[in-house]
Amino acid sequence: MEPTVFGKLKDGRTAHLFTLRNGKGMEVQITDFGGIITKLIVPDKGGKPVDVTLGFDALADYEANPPYFGAIIGRCANRIGGGRFVLDGREYQLDCNEGGINHLHGGITGFGKKLWKSEQTAENSLVLTLLSPDGDQGYPGNLLVSVTYTLTEDNVLSIRYRGMSDQRTLMNLTNHAYFNLAGQDADTVYDHWLRIEADEFCEIAEGFSMTGKMRSVEGTPLDFRKPRQIGQDIDSGYDQMVLAGGYDHNYALKGTAAAWCESTGIAMTVSTDLPGVQLYTGNFLGGDLKLKGGRRCTRRRGFCLETQLFPDAINQPAFQSPVLEPGVPAESETRFAFTVGKPDWMK
Ligand code: BGC
Repeated sequence: MEPTVFGKLKDGRTAHLFTLRNGKGMEVQITDFGGIITKLIVPDKGGKPVDVTLGFDALADYEANPPYFGAIIGRCANRIGGGRFVLDGREYQLDCNEGGINHLHGGITGFGKKLWKSEQTAENSLVLTLLSPDGDQGYPGNLLVSVTYTLTEDNVLSIRYRGMSDQRTLMNLTNHAYFNLAGQDADTVYDHWLRIEADEFCEIAEGFSMTGKMRSVEGTPLDFRKPRQIGQDIDSGYDQMVLAGGYDHNYALKGTAAAWCESTGIAMTVSTDLPGVQLYTGNFLGGDLKLKGGRRCTRRRGFCLETQLFPDAINQPAFQSPVLEPGVPAESETRFAFTVGKPDWMK
């Protein structure tokens, strides 16, 4: 269970790769740089191993990683409008690392860009820890975080997040893996079926700012209560889809979010104790990113289901607060369960 060396970071420190395995042919590779999931192998309906997550070959590409492939996101996933918030009467201004408009995914050197301490405690489990010092990316308080990845014998990848601070601060952790259940050669995820048990999503305005209101999915392309293929209405003229350039919305989860790809037969069900999940369909992917095996990155090549508290919750009184009280640990778990064959929710 000794890790292998992934490479040297620009600052000279060494990043490692860890492999978690179960007895069912599943394999998850994770690096201590950013806690990034670099590989996720699931046997398909014929028993052939399929890598279902997008990523790079080279460590240097993960140091840049504009799409946040596979990374742990913190202190706060998603956006904080204007990068501003007030806590205990003090105003904080975080970096606006998204076009100067929003603070996105924890800032320039968020948790996906840090080298974590690591311990592989068993063949199927890895514990990563990080001390984010007071003032890190502009946030108050020393925040101690741990993330435990566990691969179970029933093909579940569990991610358990824990955090504790010595001052009041904000915390909203997630993982930003992109999935393509058809494997590495599929250019889009249009053919994937999705089912999301959610009646409402957070309404967005220009520049992904939050209005603070919830909208019903009823009669819109965002309604995944009955399965729908990702590609079916992705370019719909519905105002929320136009604003986002596809699916890029946070749902208020009532149950699970699930996906299925008929060609490989692989299905994935995401469950969590968090209230929200961001469905993002890789609308900004593309350009000259070199993916694994030198493949070129295409638009909408992967989708993310990022479990989280609602976006910009610190500035939206109606949303569950992301404030962490000093000395009080917060914990959450998200589970990605993989199965093969037409799932029950498709029948
Ligand atoms: C956001 C997208 C963003 C992507 C990569 C997602 O969580 O919702 O709008 O482009 O992350 O930064």
